[in-house]
Formats: sequence, structure tokens, C-alpha cells
Amino acid sequence: MIWRPFTQEKTAPPALKIIKGEGTHLIAESGEKYLDMISSWFVTIHGHANPEIAEAISHQAKTLEHVIFTRFSHDPSERLVEALKAVVPGKLSRYFFSDNGSTAVEVAIKMAYQYFKNVGVKDRRFFLSLDGGYYGDTFGAMSAAGINSKYHATFSELFFETVMIKVPEYYDDAGSLEMQEDEIISTLERTLQEIGDRVCALILEPLLQGSFGMRLYRPEFLERLVDRVREYGILVIFDEVMTGFYRTGKMFAMNYTNVLPDFICLSKGLTGGFLPLALTITCDKIYDAFLSDDKAKAFLHGHSYTANPIACAAACKSLEILRRQETVSKIGEISEFHRNHSIPNAIKRRSIGTVTAFDVESEDKANLVVSKAWDNGIFLRPLGKTIYLFPPYCVSNYDLSRTYDTLNKCL
Ligand SMILES: Cc1ncc(COP(=O)(O)O)c(C=O)c1O
Repeated sequence: MIWRPFTQEKTAPPALKIIKGEGTHLIAESGEKYLDMISSWFVTIHGHANPEIAEAISHQAKTLEHVIFTRFSHDPSERLVEALKAVVPGKLSRYFFSDNGSTAVEVAIKMAYQYFKNVGVKDRRFFLSLDGGYYGDTFGAMSAAGINSKYHATFSELFFETVMIKVPEYYDDAGSLEMQEDEIISTLERTLQEIGDRVCALILEPLLQGSFGMRLYRPEFLERLVDRVREYGILVIFDEVMTGFYRTGKMFAMNYTNVLPDFICLSKGLTGGFLPLALTITCDKIYDAFLSDDKAKAFLHGHSYTANPIACAAACKSLEILRRQETVSKIGEISEFHRNHSIPNAIKRRSIGTVTAFDVESEDKANLVVSKAWDNGIFLRPLGKTIYLFPPYCVSNYDLSRTYDTLNKCL
């Protein structure tokens, strides 16, 4: 019997068997159609079964399905890096492949830690992170989310030490946040004075904290955080696993700011949701610290499916589709749709790019709303008492309207 992820098997309803995906829709064995309004856990940015990506995969599978990525390279990986170079800031010039969001983060954490060891700084072992962050389910990623993470508390005894920074929540009608931000920065400053020279890296999801509840904060706050920690020689990791590839209305969430990290982590939308693939992109300063005659100074980390050529071919095609004017315009239209449509009774409504979210009074109510949407053929997945829309970019105005109408009726 299959054991599902993030599921209490005792109480959850049995899995619904899906036999086909078509654009924004999932089609069940019974013939029923479900509108996938969360892009199947944030991955299917172009919708399901995109024929162009399917074709690229088919072609690559018949040419070279896989090869160990230590002694060999291949065309799809090189094409992908070239294509990404056009959209990733030039300072971030070193591309390390892995195969999911958690491993992209794990790699960044390990590289940051080893960087200091390699350059002879021995005692930088603390991490800084934002309260309510989510970076995946491997041990480094869980540790970075902190001991109070609602997903990982069971394992907290095994975590490395991470100091959490509060997040000033931004939403429609939040009012001025400057004072709150000032206080948080002052607290951070005190922490840095105490342990700043022992902190390895700051890790965060830029602007939008996803799995905690689609929580937003201001770019100005992010800039101040980065500026502060840089004063103490601390490295900066942006986890763009969820925010990357225009989800927030720009190619990357960091494009809303004037700061650059030392690492970005990418996955999820990278292959358009077809295959698992991830990248940790860093700069020459980090890469150069691993060059040595001493083998132990190399980054001794890898995965069997590192840079799988079929996944890279899918990613090349996905990026090509993403950069077309029609896709970019559609992303703009979705963002505008969210801005122009209210949701009565929504608490703390917040939107950025193609994502909109709001809270309801309780988790039970959120579950009820989501189950009503399900009865209307719309698949949503609440995060506690938060309901959010995270549609594929090919979603029609009709389907967006239908979703808003359904939510309004339920609420
Ligand atoms: C911001 C962020 N980082 C990392 C991850 C982990 O990615 P994966 O589930 O592919 O391991 C997620 C997953 O939701 C995420 O939202």
C-alpha cells in the first residue's frame, strides 16, 4: 500500500486516482475534472501535460537518458545554464545541480558552512532564519526552519542551532510597518553584537513565506536584514524554490530588491513541473574557496540523478516558454486579476504576482471552504487557516472568476 506525503493516513480520505492532466485541469478515473489552483504544490507553472515540454522530454529520452555528472557533461545541462545566465544576476555564476528543493537548500547550507572551514574560519556554526520559514524536509532544511516549525518539531533535538528573526507581516490594510521593522532590526543588531562573528549564513524565502501560510513582508525589510548581516561577514542564502520563475510577478522575488545573496536555490517550477531538478547557484568567491590540492576541500556532495539530461531538457523548454511575451503578459493579467477582485470576509488579504492568500477565522473553517470548493471541482489546499490561490500561468479568466465566485459563496 502507498504511504502518502504530509498525510495522516488514518483520517484522510482515500487518494483520488488521476488519469490525465490537461492545462489547468486534472481528470479523474470517474471523468470528473478538478481545477488545480495550487499548481500541484507550486510546480506546474505552465499547466499539466504541456505538449512542448512533453516533446522535449521525449526527444531527450531517445538521445541520452542519463549519465554520471562527475566525469561527463551534456548538452541539456549546458544549454540550461546558458539560458539561466540571461536571467540570473551575473555575480551568481556557479551552478550546482541536485534534484529537489530540499537538496538545493541542503547544498547551500553545506557550501556556506564548508566555505568558512576552507578559508580557515573555524567557529561559524550558527544560522539565522526568518520565523515561519520553510525550506524542505531534510535535516539541514528542517534545522534552518527552527525548533518551533509546525512541521518539524518532532526532530528538533537533532537540529543545528538557528536563531530566528521575527517577520513583520504585510497585507492589505496592514498600516505602517516601519516601527515594527525597526524593533526587529534592533533586536537583530543585539544578536549580531553577541554572536555575529559565529554566524555562518542567513537563510530566507525572499518576500513570500510559502508553506507557513503565504505570508508576505516588504522588500525594504529584506534589504535592511541583508545589509545588517553583511556587516558581520555572514553569507546570505535566498531560497527561491517557490518564489522563482515569475511566481511573484518578476523572474525572481529578489528582483524586487537592491540586494544580492551569495546563494539562490531553485527547483519546483524549474522543469515546468515535469521532473525533479534543482540548482544551487553561487558566486566565484564561494567556488574559489573549494579549489585546492587537498581533496577534502572539494564539495564532496552529489546525487545519483544530478543534472539528469531529461530533466534539464524539460527545464530548457520550460524557460523558453516562460520568457515568451505571451506568457509574461498572462502572468501580468493574473496579477491584475487578483488586485482587482476582492474576497468579502477575507482576513489579512495579501497578493504578490500570481499568488493571492487570505485567512479565515479557524482551521476548521478553512477546511470547510476547501471542501466546498472541491465539491465545485476546484482543488485548493489550506495552510492552517490560510487559503491561497497559486494557479498555473495558463489559467483562463473564466476559471479564475469561477474560483473567486465559489470562494465568495462559501465565505
Ligand atoms: C521555499 C521552499 N523551499 C524548499 C522546499 C522544498 O522543496 P521540495 O519539496 O522539492 O524538497 C519547498 C517546498 O514546498 C519550498 O516551498
